[in-house]
Amino acid sequence: MGARLVLKIKTYIEGFDDKMNGGVPKGNVVIIAGEPGTLKSSIAFYLLYNNAKCEGRVGAYITLEQGRESLVQQLDSLGMDPTSVESKVSLVDLALIRKNMDKLGQQTWMQIFKTYTNNLKESLDYELLVIDSLQVLEMLGNLETPRQDLFHFFEWLRDLKVTTFIISETKAGSDVYAEKGEDFLSDGIIHLKMDKVDDVNVQRRIRCVKMRGTGHSTNYYTLLFQNGVFQATRVIGE
Ligand SMILES: Nc1ncnc2c1ncn2[C@@H]1O[C@H](COP(=O)(O)OP(=O)(O)O)[C@@H](O)[C@H]1O
Ligand SMILES: [Mg+2]
Repeated sequence: MGARLVLKIKTYIEGFDDKMNGGVPKGNVVIIAGEPGTLKSSIAFYLLYNNAKCEGRVGAYITLEQGRESLVQQLDSLGMDPTSVESKVSLVDLALIRKNMDKLGQQTWMQIFKTYTNNLKESLDYELLVIDSLQVLEMLGNLETPRQDLFHFFEWLRDLKVTTFIISETKAGSDVYAEKGEDFLSDGIIHLKMDKVDDVNVQRRIRCVKMRGTGHSTNYYTLLFQNGVFQATRVIGE
């Protein structure tokens, strides 16, 4: 008796998966929202990295926002070496997509992106997908009817039958997780922010705003990075 068994994908952020009863329900399309520098890209890669290392799960990280080199440098500063998981996690950037798709002439950017992502699914059979970021995808897509187009895009993502994390860049201090209703279309939202705790100190925070298919805490936790591990701990003094 009781709840239907839902398979969970761990974020590997210590203390955070517990707050979602074990992790993100498999198959969800989840937005990771936050202002610049809140570690969105780092956390997204971190979860692919640990899912590959600990559970052998195959992942794909599509970075449109930041070049591959620059992302690798950032990951290196956090002690993650993408080459150590390269048989499981593919890290592709816009330059690589363009190089592989330049024969496709007449297709719109959105079609190119979908074709590329589908081809990658066929060749790698990834279970986890990261798209970094939603805003760059929308910008490149030059969408004429953004709300409808995004609705169909989220439906298309669900049809991929993988667990997807889409990064959304927000403005500092904003509680708008995505500007065109994508937050309604997604199955989950994880919010990252910086909190000023006094005149000089700023702390990172993480919170699960929404997560279909599981109970979860909606509180903010302090996000720490120590010895190669992300941790979510209770905010002291609130
Ligand atoms: N070794 C480190 N430990 C903790 N934070 C770091 C480390 N190296 C870089 N950072 C932080 O990572 C931030 C960039 O992370 P990133 O994942 O690119 O953020 P986002 O994608 O949200 O813009 C930098 O602003 C810096 O504060
Ligand atoms: Mg980023």
